[in-house]
Amino acid sequence: MRQKIAAGNWKMNTDYKQGLSLTKEIIKASRSDEVLTILGVPYTHAKDVGDLCRYVSNIEMAVQNVHDKESGAYTGEISAPMAKSIGATYVIIGHSERRMYQQESNALLATKLNVALNHHLKPIFCCGEPLSIRKKKQEKDYVKKQLKEGLFHLTKREITKCVIAYEPIWAIGTGETATPEQAQSMHSMIRSELAAKYGKALANRISILYGGSVKPTNSKELFSQQDIDGGLVGGASLKGKDFVSIINSF
Ligand code: PGA
Repeated sequence: MRQKIAAGNWKMNTDYKQGLSLTKEIIKASRSDEVLTILGVPYTHAKDVGDLCRYVSNIEMAVQNVHDKESGAYTGEISAPMAKSIGATYVIIGHSERRMYQQESNALLATKLNVALNHHLKPIFCCGEPLSIRKKKQEKDYVKKQLKEGLFHLTKREITKCVIAYEPIWAIGTGETATPEQAQSMHSMIRSELAAKYGKALANRISILYGGSVKPTNSKELFSQQDIDGGLVGGASLKGKDFVSIINSF
């Protein structure tokens, strides 16, 4: 049985007070023991969100990025050991917004995965194609390359600590969702790639999340697909009620 996961990615939203009250709302309302909830919060809120979640068994705190070095003269950056020290258990690596705005390459992401794993942070590794690639029907090759160059250097032991999020860029924040069939087809391809590289048994244990305009009205159908084990949710994770309804839609 794979872990079902509802992960929120708050991005650069909420101030400190709003972030804490959103966390409390989710803790209070979420009753599912079956589903792991992960809150991907801004760094300014991370310590206190982590403290609130510490004794809640099914809710974990994630940060949205870490630097690829462990420490040093990198003004303004935050490292994996720092994130770990304030209670983060997960880290989002390779979100398309960072690939795009911070020019994060597959090679850099591979290094970030290493540093995260070395410090016992579990990575949520994001992949997904832009619209231009899908129009050319090259989305599968594009994502395969992201996996090969960014993720598949990990050992078996390391990859079992990872969660993969497939997020087609054309569906992020646009209100346009991949159809359950489109998403399932990509998830199944990702699982086959995992199986080819690490073996079928291991591939069957890794959670693959879908991201891109997940909301309470489409989460149930998406999560009922065979290879979709949950969602990485942006906009809808900022509304307590909507996010709780997504958590409860497995
Ligand atoms: P969205 O964002 O749900 O707002 O489309 C998803 C993501 O970027 O992780």
